[in-house]
Amino acid sequence: MAHNKTVEIIRSKSEGRHPKIGIILGSGLGPFAESINNKITFSYKDLPGFPDAGVKGHAGQLILGKINGTEVVVLQGRAHYYESGKPDVMRTPVETLKELGCKTLLLTNAAGSLLPEAQPGSVMMLTDHINFTGVNPLFDETETSRFVDMGDAYDLSLCEQFRNAAKTKNITLHEGVYIWFCGPSFETPAEIRAAKILGADAVGMSTVPEAILARFYGLKVAALSIITNMAAGMSDEDLSHAQTMENAAMGANDLQGLLGEFLLNYETT
Ligand code: HPA
Repeated sequence: MAHNKTVEIIRSKSEGRHPKIGIILGSGLGPFAESINNKITFSYKDLPGFPDAGVKGHAGQLILGKINGTEVVVLQGRAHYYESGKPDVMRTPVETLKELGCKTLLLTNAAGSLLPEAQPGSVMMLTDHINFTGVNPLFDETETSRFVDMGDAYDLSLCEQFRNAAKTKNITLHEGVYIWFCGPSFETPAEIRAAKILGADAVGMSTVPEAILARFYGLKVAALSIITNMAAGMSDEDLSHAQTMENAAMGANDLQGLLGEFLLNYETT
């Protein structure tokens, strides 16, 4: 294991905790951490191998606790490939979730929409992804297990549980394929037209490397996007990080409602 020490540090301060689910919170979802009970909080700074969560809107904390009866580890803040040029920047955090006993990783993010019906402020569940960057978080891995099967990357049973949660909470849950562009510049309208032809429904700068790492470590994956904007060329609005953050707050309520309902009914089968 790459960073045993990190797991040791966390374990030594969280005896008796047995988290089942890891949750990575994307832009604008920081407030979800307020719904965690019995918190034990670690700053990424104190966890070897964890990144600086440098983007505005990302706190950089690992929090153990319970939400609606399910033990969770919440990663409040992620690092992106575009910050360092390292596609494996989230490897230690994902490995740590696995080592702490998690079976499932829930990924959240802010994304642009290529689906006219999925407007800013809505939520989309990812059913598959397209890695459009040409890089992979397992580039340096030498074990044969690096040839990860991505055929069922987004777990069908978890998707069904989120559909049920959406029905119960009366929340519209869009579904689609997420395409990873490396950023940090937004896409051009021509790139978005190309992405549409390739089969993308949402576009963003995160999540895909974490999904690949999670599958490498044998974790089941589900992913939810808050739609913060229509993708480049699909509306009259200019794209900006400020707009992303503002609109993320619009969708945050629904996404948090979905997560809460999912955790209330979480089954490991
Ligand atoms: N493109 C890439 N990343 C994003 C977008 C987008 O339109 N919106 C939020 N994150």
